[in-house]
Amino acid sequence: HKKTTIANLLALRASKTPITVLTAYDYPTALACSAHPVDITLVGDSLAQVCLGYPSTTRLTLDEMLHHCRAVARGTSSPLLVADMPFGTYAAGISDGVKAGVRLVQEGHVESVKLEGGEEVVEHVRALTKMGVPVMGHIGLLPQRHVSLSGYRVQGRTADAAIKLLRAARALEDAGAFSIVLEAMPNLLGAYITENLRVPTIGIGAGPGTNGQVLVWDDMIGTWSGHKPRFVRHFADVRKEVARGVAGYVNAVKDGTFPDPDREGYDMDHGEWEKFL
Ligand code: KIV
Ligand code: NA
Repeated sequence: HKKTTIANLLALRASKTPITVLTAYDYPTALACSAHPVDITLVGDSLAQVCLGYPSTTRLTLDEMLHHCRAVARGTSSPLLVADMPFGTYAAGISDGVKAGVRLVQEGHVESVKLEGGEEVVEHVRALTKMGVPVMGHIGLLPQRHVSLSGYRVQGRTADAAIKLLRAARALEDAGAFSIVLEAMPNLLGAYITENLRVPTIGIGAGPGTNGQVLVWDDMIGTWSGHKPRFVRHFADVRKEVARGVAGYVNAVKDGTFPDPDREGYDMDHGEWEKFL
């Protein structure tokens, strides 16, 4: 499989071929994303919750993100590799945002970055893009702002809110974003924003009218035991398999059937045991 480029993503949009995006937080997951290749692998800051056990994404530091980015990068071949800019890494100003984006590329070995927000991050997107760090936008439900938003709620349900999201999408596109994630908004709005942009949209809870879909890895394989938003579908039940594996291992050790000395053990060289004794 060939490396996904930004030009490829535009071509997929033009040919109405849905773009596939999955998150990954470690090397084996990155290999799985590359083996049946998704178009884009995202080191999402959902890492904070599903992989590190923090209560929200706002706890994740840039150094923690960089550590996981490097692991994912080592397992990534054809998918375009994108990393989330952690909460706070672009809050203090544009130069801070550029520095964090450059670190993600240089030390995290990713190829582009994603950041949450509308008009308030337009200048960050422009600056990063100008300096050669491609940027994905992310509008709608912004998990890094779950406190300000009074929870993880669907966005853009009123005409006023929908117009704000459409304007934000256009502003991000004008600033150079190569793609925009639309999270948790009505189907009609996801499709309308998509039709009114030139760059591909990637939806999560934004209906089937976007140019692509993204899911969190642990939601997709069914290992995450926390809240399951409406937009999640489990494409596998890995949690059940994991439970079967752990129970089987513990029982086999306790009842003495693991390890089997013939199948899972080693022999001495011939005659050596007698000498040893
Ligand atoms: O952090 C994440 O996993 C994300 C995607 C769900 C879009 O931002
Ligand atoms: Na994220």
